[in-house]
Amino acid sequence: MKTIKLSEKLSISAVAQGYWRLDGWDFSTDQLIEHMHACVERGVTTLDTAEIYADTLCETLMGDAFRKDKGLRGQVQLVTKTGIFRANVNSENFTYYDTTYERVMKSCKESLKRLGTDYVDLYLIHREDPCIDFADTARALKQIKKEGLALEVGVSNFDPFKFDALNREMGGELVTNQIEWNPVCFEHFNSGMIDFLTQKKIHPMIWSPLAGGRLFSQGDALSEKAMAKITEIAQRYGVEPTTIIYAWIMYHPVGAVPIVGSKNLNRLDAAIKAEDVHLKHFEWYEIYTASGQQALR
Ligand SMILES: NC(=O)c1ccc[n+]([C@@H]2O[C@H](COP(=O)([O-])OP(=O)(O)OC[C@H]3O[C@@H](n4cnc5c(N)ncnc54)[C@H](OP(=O)(O)O)[C@@H]3O)[C@@H](O)[C@H]2O)c1
Repeated sequence: MKTIKLSEKLSISAVAQGYWRLDGWDFSTDQLIEHMHACVERGVTTLDTAEIYADTLCETLMGDAFRKDKGLRGQVQLVTKTGIFRANVNSENFTYYDTTYERVMKSCKESLKRLGTDYVDLYLIHREDPCIDFADTARALKQIKKEGLALEVGVSNFDPFKFDALNREMGGELVTNQIEWNPVCFEHFNSGMIDFLTQKKIHPMIWSPLAGGRLFSQGDALSEKAMAKITEIAQRYGVEPTTIIYAWIMYHPVGAVPIVGSKNLNRLDAAIKAEDVHLKHFEWYEIYTASGQQALR
């Protein structure tokens, strides 16, 4: 598998594996270790999680795997995120964001403890906090790098304005923006984020490349339209429709890294196969316009 260079210090696999849904997979620690090894054997060495996933449980489960199989941590690039919190207000959960210096520093150290590691390869601010103090958050991210708690830092779900503002405070050190992109989600094309990253040569990581499974749901008109075209293209290449979706994401000059969300290794193999599919230029546009959300002028 190809790697994508995010910085001089960090390259990640061209396809990453996500562990957001890990708490629902009913894996024992040994099964998780086996799953992670299966990823590594396939060249999928970049593993994604976050503090908020299952209220920190996903990090703990991954940490159990790293604690039990001591050699595993060194074979992967580990990505985690901070910034989303839940407060109990009048017995109800209220979700909010906190990207202040103190919170980010505390969260990072807590994540490392749960993950059973001294450092993560990539530490991200999870959401675009509307109450962010760019200088304060940048101070935390720089300190995290300085203390060796993370090799590199970045963000997730940021719009171009917020990305640029934080990156200026960081002296240009943000190495990625982890964003949603799939055949029914074009938010970051419409915001200009994809153009911004392409221009800056910053590679995004792509979450929910299959729209979290929505693409396969019956009765979802946008998904049905998109999948009809994707299936037609897949028949031209003799591959699974999902392979075409990954090939479509990886075709773009921004050099995006899709994150697979399934525990099913056959689905991971379908993503890996996308490396061998070279879409024709017009086919990229066929998928871009298939759901009817994006029109060419
Ligand atoms: N930064 C962020 O804000 C953010 C947000 C969300 C996710 N993420 C990251 O991105 C990763 C991927 O996100 P995701 O899990 O939403 O990715 P995804 O790959 O778009 O969706 C995975 C879901 O789709 C289902 N699926 C896959 N292929 C299918 C098929 N052929 N037919 C029916 N269902 C199918 C899977 O079910 P099966 O398990 O049964 O295969 C799974 O439930 C996460 O694990 C997480 O690491 C980041």
